[in-house]
Amino acid sequence: MIGAPSQSSAPAVRSSAPLLEVSGLSTELRLEQHAPLAGLRDVTFTLHPGRTLALVGETGSGKSMTAYSLLRLLPAPARPVSGRILLRSRKLGDLDIAALPENADVLYRIRGGVISFISQEPLTALSPVHTVGNQISEMVRLHTRASRADARQSSLEMLARVGLPNPQRAYSQYPHQLSGGMRQRAVIAMALVCRPELVIADEPTTALDVTTQAQVLALLKELQLEIGCSVMLITHDMGVVAQMADEVAVMYYGRIVEHGDVRQVLKSPLHPYTRGLLQSLPAMNTGGRLVAIPGSAPTLLCPPPGCPFSPRCSRAEPGRCDADGSPVLREYAPGHWAACHRIGEEEGE
Ligand SMILES: Nc1ncnc2c1ncn2[C@@H]1O[C@H](COP(=O)(O)OP(=O)(O)OP(=O)(O)O)[C@@H](O)[C@H]1O
Ligand code: SF4
Ligand SMILES: [Mg+2]
Repeated sequence: MIGAPSQSSAPAVRSSAPLLEVSGLSTELRLEQHAPLAGLRDVTFTLHPGRTLALVGETGSGKSMTAYSLLRLLPAPARPVSGRILLRSRKLGDLDIAALPENADVLYRIRGGVISFISQEPLTALSPVHTVGNQISEMVRLHTRASRADARQSSLEMLARVGLPNPQRAYSQYPHQLSGGMRQRAVIAMALVCRPELVIADEPTTALDVTTQAQVLALLKELQLEIGCSVMLITHDMGVVAQMADEVAVMYYGRIVEHGDVRQVLKSPLHPYTRGLLQSLPAMNTGGRLVAIPGSAPTLLCPPPGCPFSPRCSRAEPGRCDADGSPVLREYAPGHWAACHRIGEEEGE
């Protein structure tokens, strides 16, 4: 049963302090001959130590932009506009990543040392002109005071840990000499060798075949448990969400439209967009039939006046949902947040 929403605008705090508190994060795109276009809008979420947050949503919803913002690696023409990214790091103490100067030394310590990134395409993470081993050893030397020999030893151990059958050989190979699955394992080795506190994995298995996908996700989970890090997992796949995540945040048109415990959201989704996403997954649809969400998200050039989902929403109420101002994220059950005017109203009303 859905209660009245709470008026606060930040997701509930658990017993331990969050590792990451992102609040009011907004970005814009500056394209030539255009007024700035809003990218992310007021993105707010928390992530606790050891937890996995899945970020889901259709293409263009702002998942990668959120990830790059956390690393302060937003590519032009995108740029941050406002917001706070509070990191409570065991290694570096508390800092607001959003407030750091562009070339602050601490950013280089954060990237790879505290927050590491695994991308969809391993070749973008690995330099083609250096051996896999040298790249992992460099990462170790950048973030620890390890000697060359110790860094090599840690890298070999990590390559063995991620399941490369011949770590010595893989160490001296170039990325293109490994298969796609092995390359992604090498990227995971590089991402985890410095025992980061947060791993951001942006569609880490999309480029892999189904069997390798399952193996790589299982490996990521095992290593997360060993290291005790948090994971922000970006995916289109609600099956992966169910398997991997503790919490899920659903993004639409640069906003978080629903956030909560994964079981709660998958069992009782509040937002019509989340319901649509779940219905488009055969295993979660009672009929086993794929039901695509009709239409597509508005372009950034033409933001709709009200709820950005209203042109596609079967529950949209004319004069209300398309009126100025989009719905804000509110807490409807403990830890379960959504942004929709019509939550709690009977279907068909
Ligand atoms: N370099 C760019 N130039 C113009 N628009 C951009 C650029 N980068 C991102 N955008 C826009 O910003 C929005 C958010 O993009 P983002 O890459 O974060 O989406 P995403 O959710 O990661 O999508 P996908 O699932 O396809 O990776 C989209 O509308 C996208 O078109
Ligand atoms: S606010 Fe209205 S249009 Fe937007 S998701 Fe809710 S019911 Fe649909
Ligand atoms: Mg993306």
